[in-house]
Amino acid sequence: MRHKHSDYMYWSKMESRARFNLATSGVASFPFRELPIDLKKFEINGDNSYGYARLQDAIAAHHRVDPDCVVESAGTSMGNHLAMAAIIDPGDEVLIEHPTYGPILDIAHYLEGNVKRFRRREENGWAIDPAEVRSCVTPKTRLFVITNLHNPTSVLTPDSVLREIGDVARSIGALVLVDEVYLDAVYENTPRTSFHLGPEFVVTSSLTKVYGVSGLRCGWILAQVDLAWKMRRLNDLYSATPVHPGELLSVVAFQHLSLLRERARRIVDSDRKLLRDFLKQQSNVCAVSTEWGTTSFPRLVNRNADSFLKRLRSEFDTSAVPGRFFEMPDHFRIGMGVNTGMFAEGLNRLNQALG
Ligand SMILES: Cc1ncc(COP(=O)(O)O)c(C=O)c1O
Repeated sequence: MRHKHSDYMYWSKMESRARFNLATSGVASFPFRELPIDLKKFEINGDNSYGYARLQDAIAAHHRVDPDCVVESAGTSMGNHLAMAAIIDPGDEVLIEHPTYGPILDIAHYLEGNVKRFRRREENGWAIDPAEVRSCVTPKTRLFVITNLHNPTSVLTPDSVLREIGDVARSIGALVLVDEVYLDAVYENTPRTSFHLGPEFVVTSSLTKVYGVSGLRCGWILAQVDLAWKMRRLNDLYSATPVHPGELLSVVAFQHLSLLRERARRIVDSDRKLLRDFLKQQSNVCAVSTEWGTTSFPRLVNRNADSFLKRLRSEFDTSAVPGRFFEMPDHFRIGMGVNTGMFAEGLNRLNQALG
């Protein structure tokens, strides 16, 4: 049977809720009332057959790319799906980082790709080792998939490493898909999109995680013009046209992007400080600490994370994402950036549960 679902998404929608929710990955919702909007200028329908020009221009300006390379998508989720579906055919080898964001694997399996993995190792700070990537490549490798920042660890992959992977890809006629949905959570010296590194790079992103406007589902893909058209044509089979009021709101969000980002940044920064203190004091967990990002991926020392997290939720009303969704059952993922009071109490309860 072909793979047609995501266990992680089901868990996240149905089983992750708790009063102290550390199972998040995006920042707090940006309040609608704080977006300076003139609703009189809004329309239900618009000229958006293959994308709404003003939004495409806003995305292109944000990344300093040609608007013809921008494909609108319903979140990074649909971006990843369209990108992979346009690039791979059943049986093509897809080389995906391990650990990774579950739905990326689910999409590759759904598309009947031949999924191969390369490891990011904790002892190596979860960094991508280009030598390891190279050793996994075969002449059939069609696509490499990376998240940057990395979900679940938030580790940043520098351009030098991405370039090496791009070189490998180019040498075998493959492409590199980089999911950059968290990249703008690098609040200082924010790296440019890897799309600028060369024509073998395809990038997905959205306003969902770092800007607090997930409900707009404003996502996109950056791809070379021909490939971008293939993706737009493919999207005709899924959703015909985007939701136009969502596009209009997204244009407004782009006009006030630093307002959205800075609001979230204050919470992410405060939460990170609390997390650092927690990790310093708590010997039952250890984690690679990062300077940026909204998630951390601690390892539970000498304990089964699944049963621990079940007890954490039932007895302490606190949730975190089980590492099994990242194929690392000894770990769990904690999210920052929603509410510092809630985060502090969640860590407090985590401490109590760890004893
Ligand atoms: C790496 C990664 N890509 C994509 C998504 C989905 O993003 P969106 O909400 O923009 O569809 C997530 C959500 O957690 C994610 O972590």
